[in-house]
Amino acid sequence: MSQKKFHIVTFGCQMNVHDSQKISGVLTREGYSHAENAKDSDLIIFNTCSIRQKAEQKFFSDLGRIKSLKRKRPDLKIAVAGCIAQQMGERIFRRAPYVDFVFGPQNIHRITDLIQRKSSGIANDDNPEIADTDLPVLREKKGRAWVSIMYGCDNFCSYCIVPYTRGKERSRPSGNILEEIKGLSREGFKEVTLLGQNVNSYRSDINFAVLLKEINSISGIERIRFVTSHPRDLCEELISAISILDKVCEHIHLPLQSGSERILGLMNRGYTYDEYRKKVDSLRKSIQGISMTTDIITGFPGETEDDHKMTIKALEDIEFDGIFSFKFSPRPGTKAATMGCQVDDNVKSARLTEILRVQDSITLKLNKRLENSIQEVLVEGPGDADKDMLTGRSRSNKIVNFKGEGLSRGEVVDVKILRVRKHSLDGEAL
Ligand code: 5AD
Ligand code: SF4
Repeated sequence: MSQKKFHIVTFGCQMNVHDSQKISGVLTREGYSHAENAKDSDLIIFNTCSIRQKAEQKFFSDLGRIKSLKRKRPDLKIAVAGCIAQQMGERIFRRAPYVDFVFGPQNIHRITDLIQRKSSGIANDDNPEIADTDLPVLREKKGRAWVSIMYGCDNFCSYCIVPYTRGKERSRPSGNILEEIKGLSREGFKEVTLLGQNVNSYRSDINFAVLLKEINSISGIERIRFVTSHPRDLCEELISAISILDKVCEHIHLPLQSGSERILGLMNRGYTYDEYRKKVDSLRKSIQGISMTTDIITGFPGETEDDHKMTIKALEDIEFDGIFSFKFSPRPGTKAATMGCQVDDNVKSARLTEILRVQDSITLKLNKRLENSIQEVLVEGPGDADKDMLTGRSRSNKIVNFKGEGLSRGEVVDVKILRVRKHSLDGEAL
């Protein structure tokens, strides 16, 4: 019998991309091989995201398109995984009866059972006890690897669906994490990114700052990154660890969400703008050349023109290297979804446009300072647009496209920056 093939479609965040690597790891262990196209596969998995309505709509339209393929090939199995699977459960079968399996992010270990069943099945129970068993991971060989260190979230920001889809916060024991990273080093990975919804509130047998110190001493690993940090949990001990540990890269993603005190309160973020600003100062004082990125939500319920101006002012005041900005999307079941004074979509769009315009010029201005500088880059492979160029990231997490002979994926090289763009730097390997 020929080997069975699977195809996986991933929506959403880095956490989900990494979950897809775990799903692929389990399926590979079960004897499946990966197919580039849906039509060449025996099993199609949609790893879904429910953070905003747009991601949800995209998934349902992709799922609708698969229906005719299933009609032609009834043997084809269709699975829905991820955050929508966790939330909707059985309701997915009602909406799309041609789906065979449904499993949530905490049930990846149960795919084996599900694919062996003759009839359709579901696994979306919230069982953190067994959810975090170490799973095999099928990683892309690009020199860098993601490692989950904690799962879930207890913060309940009023707009956010994550605590409902990913469950309670729990941290992996440090021993397992260190073993996984030592294994990655033996396989030739040079960079690890530690993943968690609230990565800096990691707490098991040791705390996050100590975990970074332990990873810093693993030979072969040259760079350490971590996402996403919560501003409230960013303490001096962590700032000092980042500044002292040579392998920890000079970049932090620290979601601000809004520059307005009042909106931050309604969002239940747990910090004021002043507190956030002080942490930025402390980071910049202790860590030379640190780059900072953030997330901004525009059009949160009740956001006035004045609140919006405060966000613009915060962007101008802090000068982030880059931002991700989103229109507020009401998520069923969250507190903000039912708050009064929902903002009109046209207003949200206009505010988003202004935010992007203001930030674009800041990003370009900060990138210009890097012209003629030398950046250490980890080679990820040939460029997407120009195959004669190589691409990689600087320690400050900027995309660098550059010319370089005889270099391969996973090598760390110095690149002279010759030209800067809004979203990348161009250069030449030295
Ligand atoms: N609407 C818009 N953006 C959201 N985010 C999370 N929930 C929502 C929502 N309901 C954004 C936040 C978060 C990022 C991952 O997604 O900015 O930091
Ligand atoms: Fe990631 Fe949140 Fe989307 Fe789930 S809902 S995939 S945790 S961004």
